[in-house]
Amino acid sequence: MDVAEALAVLMSPQGRVDPYPVYERLRGHGPVVQAGPNMYVVTGYAEADELLRDARVQVLDDHLRDDLLPAWRDSPAVSSIARSMLRTNPPDHSRMRRLAAGAFTPRRIAAMRDVVTAQADELVDMMAAAGRDGTPVDFMAEFAYPLPVGVICALLGVPTADRPLFRRWAADLTGILEPEITPAELAVADAGATELRGYFTELVAARRRRPADDLTTALVQAHDAGDRLSGEELLANLVILLVAGFETTTNLLGNGLAVLLAHPGAADVLRRHPEHAPAYVDELLRFDSPVQLTTRTSSETVRVGGAELVAGSWILLLLGAANRDPRRYPTPERFDPWRAQLAPLSFGAGPHYCLGAGLARLEAQVAVPLLLRRLPGLAPAGTPRRRSRLTLRGYDSLPVTVGEP
Ligand code: HEM
Repeated sequence: MDVAEALAVLMSPQGRVDPYPVYERLRGHGPVVQAGPNMYVVTGYAEADELLRDARVQVLDDHLRDDLLPAWRDSPAVSSIARSMLRTNPPDHSRMRRLAAGAFTPRRIAAMRDVVTAQADELVDMMAAAGRDGTPVDFMAEFAYPLPVGVICALLGVPTADRPLFRRWAADLTGILEPEITPAELAVADAGATELRGYFTELVAARRRRPADDLTTALVQAHDAGDRLSGEELLANLVILLVAGFETTTNLLGNGLAVLLAHPGAADVLRRHPEHAPAYVDELLRFDSPVQLTTRTSSETVRVGGAELVAGSWILLLLGAANRDPRRYPTPERFDPWRAQLAPLSFGAGPHYCLGAGLARLEAQVAVPLLLRRLPGLAPAGTPRRRSRLTLRGYDSLPVTVGEP
């Protein structure tokens, strides 16, 4: 299979459901391969890490994609993402990132541990009630979605009653992160973005009238103090915090539980030794990464992994493939929480390294052992359904029985 064929399979429904065999095909051509006159694909861990940290390599301005979709420039979904820190370069990126990091302090994250524990306990109670008498329950709907939504909404100060609204809006908007998107999918993403922006416009006005101890107020104050964050940037970053903050963590919980159900021995060790949760969570992140890829462009010609990436080319960084690079991880297809040096690329690297990595890790480190301890009989029930998305890899549904609590 040549590189172009492998990429076509990767983008197809089959590749979206199981990209790993395609990654191996691509890897067979080298850690960095040319896929077109101006396009490169990276599967190597060291090469992806190096490129993500290279100042000459930048995030793509989504408006460059005008040629692909004429509707791109006016799209609320594109502008929501494009003006956030995720898709901006220095100096705008450094300014926004500094302001957001100032509001996203380790103290604020550490203070979330009790919130995460309380919400996870409550969701387990509800799952146990719904699944009594052996009725299968959908882990995605009952736990993996509501936990991260609840946590990020608590952090942003979104009232509890409004939280269910966010699941659909955010899920719709994230279609924009796929490497290929149809006009119909763009329309769905736009509708989600418009709802979210409308909601946050009102929340910002409410916090300006009456400040609270939450992340929204902290960002509003950053905006109001001498216009360090424009109104558009404020909205875009609130949207990105919400969207980046929950769909990804939902997929970490779903992908992670599926792996542990398939490895009952390893799950049993974690149940008895929750102190190993940090290593388990990092191996779950590596083994089936919730974010499978990101993209970059280069402002100059860059040499990496034996390839020469000409200036202005499109670089597809397959984080999910890098996490299974056998040069970095021996027998990468094996789930093994005892690996010496984990550091998966699931949160990226360099200046755009995930701002919420600490929060995501905290959520999984609390929730996964808590689930295993409180529901020791948790077992698969029926066939899980994968979501047909490549960038944000997860399940649509993951049926389980809860057993005797
Ligand atoms: C950036 C993954 C959870 C907020 C990123 C990037 C990745 C990532 C790969 C870098 C993208 C790139 O370089 O192009 C994940 C995964 C998560 C997760 C796998 C969960 C398991 C979160 C959470 C939040 C968050 C909980 C916030 C509450 C962000 C933000 C950025 C980002 C704001 C942009 C940072 C920047 O551009 O400087 N995330 N993320 N993420 N993430 Fe996460």
